[in-house]
Amino acid sequence: PRARIAVDAAYTTAPVPRRLFGSFVEHMGRCVYTGIFEPDHPRADADGLRSDVLDLVREVGPTVVRYPGGNFVSGYDWEDGVGPLDARPRRIDRAWRTVETNAFGLDEFARWADKAGTEMMYAVNLGTRGLQEACDLLEYANHPGGTLFSDLRSAHGRQDPYNIQLWCLGNEMDGPWQTGHKTAHEYARLAGETARAMRQIDPTIELVACGSSSRSMPTFGEWERIVLEETYEDVQLISAHAYYEESETTPLADFLASAVDMDLFIDSVAATADAVGAKLKSRKKIGISFDEWNVWNQTAWHSSERARGLIAWDVAPRIIEDEYTVQDAVVVGTLLNSLLRHGDRVLVGCQAQLVNVIGLLRSEPGGAAWKQTIALPFEQVRRRSLGGHVLDVRTSSDRYETGRYGDVDLVDASAVVHHDDGGGLARLTLFLANRSLEESADVAVSLGGFADLSVGDALVLAAADGQDRYTSNREAAPDAVRLRPLAAAGGTVAVEASERGAQTARI
Ligand code: AHR
Repeated sequence: PRARIAVDAAYTTAPVPRRLFGSFVEHMGRCVYTGIFEPDHPRADADGLRSDVLDLVREVGPTVVRYPGGNFVSGYDWEDGVGPLDARPRRIDRAWRTVETNAFGLDEFARWADKAGTEMMYAVNLGTRGLQEACDLLEYANHPGGTLFSDLRSAHGRQDPYNIQLWCLGNEMDGPWQTGHKTAHEYARLAGETARAMRQIDPTIELVACGSSSRSMPTFGEWERIVLEETYEDVQLISAHAYYEESETTPLADFLASAVDMDLFIDSVAATADAVGAKLKSRKKIGISFDEWNVWNQTAWHSSERARGLIAWDVAPRIIEDEYTVQDAVVVGTLLNSLLRHGDRVLVGCQAQLVNVIGLLRSEPGGAAWKQTIALPFEQVRRRSLGGHVLDVRTSSDRYETGRYGDVDLVDASAVVHHDDGGGLARLTLFLANRSLEESADVAVSLGGFADLSVGDALVLAAADGQDRYTSNREAAPDAVRLRPLAAAGGTVAVEASERGAQTARI
């Protein structure tokens, strides 16, 4: 396929949001237990945290991590996870049909986040609980001292407040599967009054109201309208969640176009939020927190015995430990492109989840830890975007027909520019994906306003012959999937100048 892309140094849309490259740790399966936390592991540190996993987390570098759920949070009592270990109860987790030991809770998560060098984002339970418990938790977490819950925190050994800045008002409350699922009006009331009460305690916090669990929810659109009409001045963000898979009804060609759905999702939520803002005559803009997104083989999950409630209650079982391929990594790259393209509106993004459960990373109990293929684009796009500005990218690409999304661009793009200390242009980075199953892509990028560009590095995601993923036996195929120099993969990149001084990159 051929594509022409135009960028101009003067046309940036926003600074790249620092929180766009977040992830998610839920008390689910082995994300926490034997994922980030395993006191008996040979590489566990003094806090029981897996230092081998922490090393990988620091490399991949999620900038913010949402916790503790997910569906889990809608039945969770935060008090169970604080204070002396021997007094913490074992409880039923209805969401995943597991037993929660509560050996890991807020303080352990805060220690982990500190070592991982990431920001905490905390979800309150608006499924089985409400305003009062959310306020108690906020008081415990952020109040300096001298009150019941802040003093309890000190008694538990933590003097300084955790100062959690970013809070989710529940999780996926539009979903019938959610414990305490609500109608839009019921949730809007609860979210609004909880937001107002929480901000009475700490007016500096930022709050995320629940949006839709996917764009295909029957209430999508109406849900956002009703929730925002009630909460507009009291929240900063509304959430969006989306998972994509290759399946019988979504062949590979359609799966590769998943970012088309994400684009439309974001544009629709932004339009709905702006319509509410117009009606309320508000000057405020609501941001989007895309706080769960990934590739997930949901078809397999829904037919599993656990999803159908046919399994005994157990501690930290293997749940949805999807093994990702190079194709999945390409889709994740395009989803990152979509988030970046919307960097003026999507201010938080959380890939779901961090370890084992549809994980960027995998770890075995007592054994090794490794990165999955999808960690490659995540790490690269994060490293190469932060500190830059999102460029307005105009793409004119050959297209192909999909059953699910109609006519779709074969080449998908986003771009970021970094300035040097003096305000000059230091670096242009293009993130490109080719959705063609047969051909390599021929891309011409016209570069307006960039003086004297030369090619830095050009990398391409590549799989070794006959291998498309990493398995637990990583030693057997250490380079199964990796980023190779474009030249080594038979590609070229060059910058050409025309007589009038304009430059074009040919890839
Ligand atoms: O990430 C797995 C689950 O997907 C989360 O618990 C839930 O919020 C979503 O449906």
